[in-house]
Amino acid sequence: MSFLDIHNLHVCAGGKEILKGIDLTIETGRTAIIFGPNGSGKSTLLGAIAGLPGYEITEGDILFKGKSIRDLPVDERSRMGIGLAFQYPPAIKGVRLGTLLKTIKKDDQLLKDQAEMLNLTQYLNREINVGFSGGERKRSEILQLMAQMPDLMLLDEPESGVDIENISVIAQALKIILEKDKPLPKRTHSAIIITHTGFILDYIKADIAFVIMDGHVLGCGAPGEIFDEIKAHGYKKCTTCFADKYRDMVSGDL
Ligand SMILES: Nc1ncnc2c1ncn2[C@@H]1O[C@H](COP(=O)(O)OP(=O)(O)OP(=O)(O)O)[C@@H](O)[C@H]1O
Ligand SMILES: [Mg+2]
Repeated sequence: MSFLDIHNLHVCAGGKEILKGIDLTIETGRTAIIFGPNGSGKSTLLGAIAGLPGYEITEGDILFKGKSIRDLPVDERSRMGIGLAFQYPPAIKGVRLGTLLKTIKKDDQLLKDQAEMLNLTQYLNREINVGFSGGERKRSEILQLMAQMPDLMLLDEPESGVDIENISVIAQALKIILEKDKPLPKRTHSAIIITHTGFILDYIKADIAFVIMDGHVLGCGAPGEIFDEIKAHGYKKCTTCFADKYRDMVSGDL
């Protein structure tokens, strides 16, 4: 049994088919990267796993810890251990960040330490993400994940818009959640990280990378190697590159 097993996933949003048969597996304690051009369906995939409204699964299934979650509401998936940091974190008027964090986690001292680590101590009394800068919103998302400590963390471009020093701070926080200090067999938390810049790879060792194009998984392989290929040749050449190099690993129905 895999930790996360996605079979032939088809997802529609706004009446249009966005994901066209995704197959993807993640094992316990692993960190997976997703690369793909704009509009290829990366955020849609994370939204479908988290159970966000607006993403309709029309075919296929998502198994998490061996159980189908495709018909579960977002809160049940969250209680099962799925946490999401949005590409564009929403603001929530009327709820202070500190109130939300205390509701999730009761340990006041730990919350204070985590807020300090993410340079957000001054923001605990503010409404969630209201008036926050782009980088502050991203850090606020990570702080919420630190409180939740989800077994499966879905990170949608966590370093996007974050200054170079704070990328390192975010990476430290993610390493704590992912128990990167422990040997692989002892880790119980996994992550899927979407990145365009690849900056996060300078700080966090990922185990596997998937390339998504036009709603399909084109293939998978070593994150650094794939990122170098994308930088050198662009996404268009990925199709041939996977056909040549990773033929045995290609999944999906391309
Ligand atoms: N509600 C919707 N109605 C219509 N089209 C949608 C809807 N949601 C997503 N799409 C379309 O689905 C495609 C995939 O969107 P998605 O946000 O998953 O892309 P992405 O790979 O995350 O891109 P980016 O790298 O720009 O974040 C896009 O073309 C987008 O316009
Ligand atoms: Mg996106």
